[in-house]
Amino acid sequence: MNSMMDLRSDTFTFPTTGMLEFMFKAPVGDDVFGEDPSVNQLEQKMAQLFQKEAALFCPSGTMTNQIAIKVNTQPQDQVICDQRSHVYNYEGGGMAFNSGVSAKLVDGDRGRLTKEDVLACLNPDDPHFPVSRLVVIENTVNKGGGSYYRLNDVQGIRQIALQHGLRMHLDGARLFNALAETGESPEAWGQQFDTISICLSKGLGAPVGSVLLGTAEDIKKARRVRKVLGGGMRQAGYLAAAGLYAIDHHRELLAEDNRRARHLGGLVSDLPYVSKLHPVDTNIVILELEGVNPEDFLKKLDEKKIRALPFGGQQVRMVTHLGITDDMVDYFVDTVRHLTL
Ligand SMILES: Cc1ncc(COP(=O)(O)O)c(C=O)c1O
Repeated sequence: MNSMMDLRSDTFTFPTTGMLEFMFKAPVGDDVFGEDPSVNQLEQKMAQLFQKEAALFCPSGTMTNQIAIKVNTQPQDQVICDQRSHVYNYEGGGMAFNSGVSAKLVDGDRGRLTKEDVLACLNPDDPHFPVSRLVVIENTVNKGGGSYYRLNDVQGIRQIALQHGLRMHLDGARLFNALAETGESPEAWGQQFDTISICLSKGLGAPVGSVLLGTAEDIKKARRVRKVLGGGMRQAGYLAAAGLYAIDHHRELLAEDNRRARHLGGLVSDLPYVSKLHPVDTNIVILELEGVNPEDFLKKLDEKKIRALPFGGQQVRMVTHLGITDDMVDYFVDTVRHLTL
């Protein structure tokens, strides 16, 4: 293998030639003045796809999630989310720092909440308790090994949320990987949430960017929060163009990523040093190792030009993406079968 096979995350993609050419030709302007045609086009396209009123292009998924929490809550409120969720674990404590809110954690099935979980999390209307205000759902669930929801499950949660005055945010960093499995439409998902974050720089393969979706009123507020976080970018159209290209050309490839992940998982589950293969639902494969230290395993892989990620304890994570071909998966399987550990 000449180049590195990087399975650490689907964030390790590089823009394709077609994407770079499209970016190069993008018409741009100053987006802080609302004058970047490519950013405007991306925002309109995404809003239309999910049938939301408006959209906001941001530098990262962390920023779109954090802005969403700010827009959907007031200080002292409480956010209901799974204990594995990105907003809780991997955003630097941002919900407390940026929004002054606390989290009520659920231990869902591979990171997925149910309507019963949400009901059980509701606080009484009593000044001792934070106000239950927002439900955050992650789809697919990163730390759940790429598990995904069915629309039906989310519709049940939405009903509870509406009955109890809760808002709902979707961390859809990898939503399109889930939709590639279920065949459900972005539009149907758009109707279940107040705000939605979609990452362009995961499986979709853009170098930078996430989009926040919501009502015109919420996105107007979000634009203010983006500014205060320093996320107002000027000629951002070059980056937005990558997102436009990704939605048009890479979205349909996500089913292939999911297939490759299943294939890879299936072929390594019987290795003597693999005690467990977590279910492979989308593009994330988690292996539990036994009798071998994950660091040693990863070092040996690195020597063979393969990178994977330590994922806590005995777990190792591998993620398929735009840069991983069928030949690479074969090379990976052949390599791990012949590793001397
Ligand atoms: C589920 C989920 N949400 C949000 C993010 C944040 O995205 P970013 O790295 O663009 O801040 C990630 C990043 O890996 C993620 O996996």
